[in-house]
Amino acid sequence: MDPVTEKREYRDDYDDKTLYIPGPTEVRDDVIEAMAEPMFGHRMDRMTDLYTTIVEDTKTFLGTDNEVVILTASGTEFWEASTLNLVDENILVPTCGSFSERHANVAERLGKDVDRLEYEWGEAVKPEDIREHLESTDKQYDVVATVMNESSTGVRNPIEEIGDVVAEYPDTYFVVDAVSALGGDHVDIDEHGIDVIFASTQKAFAMPPGLAVCVVSDDAYDREVEKGDSSWYGGFRRTIDYYDRKGQTHSTPAIPIMLAYRKQMKHMLDEGHRARDERHREMMAYVHDWADEHFAMFPEEGYESQTVACIENTQGIDVAATIEEVSAEYDMAFSNGYGSQLGEETFRIGHMGEHTVESVKELTDAIEDVADL
Ligand SMILES: Cc1ncc(COP(=O)(O)O)c(C=O)c1O
Repeated sequence: MDPVTEKREYRDDYDDKTLYIPGPTEVRDDVIEAMAEPMFGHRMDRMTDLYTTIVEDTKTFLGTDNEVVILTASGTEFWEASTLNLVDENILVPTCGSFSERHANVAERLGKDVDRLEYEWGEAVKPEDIREHLESTDKQYDVVATVMNESSTGVRNPIEEIGDVVAEYPDTYFVVDAVSALGGDHVDIDEHGIDVIFASTQKAFAMPPGLAVCVVSDDAYDREVEKGDSSWYGGFRRTIDYYDRKGQTHSTPAIPIMLAYRKQMKHMLDEGHRARDERHREMMAYVHDWADEHFAMFPEEGYESQTVACIENTQGIDVAATIEEVSAEYDMAFSNGYGSQLGEETFRIGHMGEHTVESVKELTDAIEDVADL
């Protein structure tokens, strides 16, 4: 195969850009600095202190009594692991954009029988559609898997209401991809029958990339045990039992990123889940107003994401050129629309993690200047 990308040497002299992409996002200086410690062994007591701290702090932050697994991986790991751990045969995946589609694709590649409930890009998944589908089918679904925040379209799906519907089917487990939402959008995990919900650290947690966080209900754990086979790396039983016995991970983790996690989770606890949610809501409202003034929001009204704004390019600006110029003149990075489908038709602003209305306004001012709005 001919290589497409020219291989280049990393130069170490790049300009820093303020990140308004849908992850990775800005990371606090003290969180970056926390990674620069002499290395220690992953079977030392110190590791137990570190890992039990970040797991228990995460439970406290999220307000959940469920188990928390933190692994060296990106969120993608839990598309695969949750499917292997819970699905014998049938899985229902409502698809409303690129990431929910990829979730369905992962399950297909694992040999599962996947039914999609397809929505137009920009539309949100509706609980009543899920109910209708579950009521009208003869199939027994092991899992309904829904993306909370479809990062390609900026849609926030009503996973709480969907969870309430799935909870009426005790043999069907509810899996939520909250990769770009958790930490910036409050969700009451234990109230809505969410068996598995996972995120990546580089999004609304505002940590460096490299860890995936997964919250697992007792029912999901028991289901995996009953099912018999599972993912090795992301098996719920293996990871949770290892934590219970040793307070560590089953294999060598990215220790520096866990040190960063520890630091940032303390900041998140100081702020609180509700207050973080409120700050993200304010950013969303600000960007929404700005988009209404200059463009339009892409998602179906009432389902706009709190962390990723997808804005319809109603003015026909040159999105790629605007991104480049904002980067060159203001050292700020935001994103085009997702893939060839939405590349120039929309653009996306990641207002997640540590951003504030003030910092997001700096970006929208820059876009106004460059695009002459
Ligand atoms: C909704 C959603 N799911 C899954 C992923 C994949 O996450 P990761 O790249 O951390 O594996 C992403 C990445 O942007 C995402 O936005």
